[in-house]
Amino acid sequence: MAILDKHAILEKSPTLLLVSSLLVVTVGGIVEIAPLFWLENTIEDVEGVRPYSPLELAGRDIYIREGCYVCHSQMIRPMRDEVERYGHYSLAAESKYDHPFQWGSKRTGPDLARVGGRYSDAWHVDHLMDPQSVVPESIMPKYAFLADTALEGEQIEALLATHRFVGVPYTDEQIAAAGADLKDQADPDSDWDDLVERYPGAVVSNFDGQPGVSEMDALIAYLQIMGTMVDFDTFTPDPSR
Ligand code: HEC
Repeated sequence: MAILDKHAILEKSPTLLLVSSLLVVTVGGIVEIAPLFWLENTIEDVEGVRPYSPLELAGRDIYIREGCYVCHSQMIRPMRDEVERYGHYSLAAESKYDHPFQWGSKRTGPDLARVGGRYSDAWHVDHLMDPQSVVPESIMPKYAFLADTALEGEQIEALLATHRFVGVPYTDEQIAAAGADLKDQADPDSDWDDLVERYPGAVVSNFDGQPGVSEMDALIAYLQIMGTMVDFDTFTPDPSR
């Protein structure tokens, strides 16, 4: 056939083949990727999703620093086995304030996208201090030092401001109160009403059971909010998206 004969010209010239393949990939890429930059509904707004509180955000930084993502994903895929094991599949909106996102691609341990509220704070303390004490066959490393490491939070305003710079809608008020909010969330005896107003659903607790704010407090505050912001009893996906 004539058209196939023409194709032979392409196949015989490596340069022409390379240039044509690049052209095809470029056009394909633009068609797939470009519309995402103009679609306003790429990520649907879902009620309940809010920026992280200062303590949760500090905990998230510790999660990244310690490489928890190397063994844990944070994305429940919409497949039956995953949904039955972990809960409702993850929504794009649930990680819209994550910079960088923690979806991950490796599950040496279980997915953590909905671990919030599944265990008590005390369970998390025992587990992080010595995972084998609660799950004997666990291969997770110990993170006991987090309980002895005070979280000063000197940089917390700057951390919130940086997240605002990349698009998280922190208000001036939230940034100004960040230092106080960080300490109040780890102390149930503090005056935490304003904190919970600023960050609805924030768990206020002495997470590590010790006085003061430790890195353990921050990490557990983060673990306990994971996947709990959206109320799936009232959430209905919008089929038009
Ligand atoms: C070397 C891989 C590895 C690393 C690194 C790791 N974990 Fe794990 N994690 C596991 C494994 C395996 C399990 C399952 C056994 C268990 O519960 O200990 C697990 C379980 C967990 C669980 C319980 C989840 C559930 O649904 O039962 C939590 C919470 C957790 N890890 C948090 C963390 C945090 C936070 C970090 C970082 C500070 C971390 N892990 C680092 C391997 C890892």
